[in-house]
Amino acid sequence: GLMDQLLGLQQMERRLSKALHIKRCLIVSGDSDKQPQVIDNMGKLVNDTLKMLLPEGPNTIAVMGGTTMAQVANCLSPDLSNQRQLTFVPARGGIGERVEIQANNVCAQMALKTGGKHRALYVPEQVSEEAYRPLLKEPAIQEVVSLIRSSNVAIHSIGEAIHMAKRRAMSPEIIAMLTKQKAVGEAFGYFFDETGKIIYRIPRIGLQLEDLASMDCVFAVAGGSSKAKAIRAYMQLAPSNTCLITDEGAAKLILKE
Ligand code: G3H
Repeated sequence: GLMDQLLGLQQMERRLSKALHIKRCLIVSGDSDKQPQVIDNMGKLVNDTLKMLLPEGPNTIAVMGGTTMAQVANCLSPDLSNQRQLTFVPARGGIGERVEIQANNVCAQMALKTGGKHRALYVPEQVSEEAYRPLLKEPAIQEVVSLIRSSNVAIHSIGEAIHMAKRRAMSPEIIAMLTKQKAVGEAFGYFFDETGKIIYRIPRIGLQLEDLASMDCVFAVAGGSSKAKAIRAYMQLAPSNTCLITDEGAAKLILKE
């Protein structure tokens, strides 16, 4: 029955947070690889958990892009703003996604859904590092970057390394290097192998991995059995204040390995 299912999930949540050495894991039933509806259930769980955990007063929430994050944005609700002033900021400058799933867009959607505010970071997606550097000296960009680096909450997803590199049209040389070095996962524009070793980082401004540890809460939202390896790998470099929101499909595979 439903009760047994819930108890089973709770048990799995405890086993998973122990295995991954993080504060909390929350698991929704199903596998988002097979049932897209499962991503909405993860989104609703993000909303409920934020409602419980966010401090009262002003909150600056740094968010990443991607298809999961775009769907999570649609699941946020206005009551998240009760007793709180929310500002959503893009965690990092453009890392080469199509416009609908870019962090700027996810922020705008989250602000719309919660009645909060948002700020955008306008840096081009597809430029070289040399073209990009001088932009960082612009006061308007610096202002948003310091807001980002002072955020108290972060929400991001985790992806499969090669899939993400191809989707972001990274160069064949870099893709070959990632393959050779056995990259399995990606989060925040960082690529890492099975042991959690960082192999490559897309050179972009904004939030850095080391900024996460001092935050009130960090949410990693990723599900589907295809992401099990990437999730397990990322959790070896994730700060311990990370809360993983995932699904049964990913959780079962992670616990089997
Ligand atoms: O940063 C993006 C994530 O790593 C994965 O993207 O939600 O489209 O799978 P996704």
